[in-house]
Amino acid sequence: MTQTEFSKNSGADVAFSYAPGKIIVAGEHAVVYGCPAIALALDRGVRIAVTKARFESEGKGPVLRATGLGFVGEVRPGPSGLGPDVLRRGLQRLVELCGDRIQDLEFIADCAIPVGGGLGSSAALSVALGRGIFRYFGEEINDGSVVEMAMELERVFHGNPSGIDHSSITHGGCIWYHRGEQNVKIESLTSPRILRFAVGVAGPHGGTLQMVSALRERMRRHPDMHRHIFEGISQIVFRMRDALLEGRLAEVGELMNINQGYLNALGVSTPELERLCTIARDEGALGAKLTGAGGGGAVIALVDEGAERIAQAFKQAGYFSFCAQAFDEVKTNYAS
Ligand code: MEV
Repeated sequence: MTQTEFSKNSGADVAFSYAPGKIIVAGEHAVVYGCPAIALALDRGVRIAVTKARFESEGKGPVLRATGLGFVGEVRPGPSGLGPDVLRRGLQRLVELCGDRIQDLEFIADCAIPVGGGLGSSAALSVALGRGIFRYFGEEINDGSVVEMAMELERVFHGNPSGIDHSSITHGGCIWYHRGEQNVKIESLTSPRILRFAVGVAGPHGGTLQMVSALRERMRRHPDMHRHIFEGISQIVFRMRDALLEGRLAEVGELMNINQGYLNALGVSTPELERLCTIARDEGALGAKLTGAGGGGAVIALVDEGAERIAQAFKQAGYFSFCAQAFDEVKTNYAS
């Protein structure tokens, strides 16, 4: 029995949803300009319970009660609401999208992804909210509608994102993502090998909107050089796709290292991210690179074995770290 059936049949006034975080294995930033990229859903994410708000007299609008979303507390929508500005605006957008029927709802969110680490916490929150709302009202959860709703929320969080974050999260597993002028192409990439990573977090990243805007400004000054870099990154992504499909992980790692060199040239790496990459490579990682917007955030290190050893080396150097692998079971929810 699915959770929706459970909620409807039992008359229980609660629905649960889940969405994983994500990592970009190759192609971030270039993907904004129409180059392909490869991303995968992580095995940690955001869980949400949707229910009727318990304290209706406290104010108007839905409530988001959060743990782990960069803070612990309550968010209410709009300029005079409660909580961090970006979450208030996100909740306000959700009301505009879903209408009055969500005014008296409470969303209890538990986020197990480091926030601002380039690991998709905002996209996972957006996807989990969409899934939770559909489920609460007993409606079919259709990936297209979830992606559309998440894109609207991601615009509030990040300006004009490529869509790779919430698309990989909604799809699950490892994907090829290419946003062309007219349409978006998404393909599953199923490797015969399990993709295992050690993740080291240098701290919050520089902000997706800020990092993308600053790069756009540098591109305006040096268009030819940036075009060459994006062509190089596209080649990496094409080669990585074959290497992944054929299980050649050593090659995937080498391509990640080259991608990191390009990301440094694009000005989105930092000394701390470079240090994390060096630690990972010295400890035997197949390859390491920053993931997401950069300017801080996380480094992912691909391993054949010994992810724990590399995570421990990150920790000893003073960084938060964990081991991760791709997550395919995105259609499940944590209550079923
Ligand atoms: C952020 O996770 C990835 C970027 O390429 C921005 C985007 O794709 O919207 C930096």
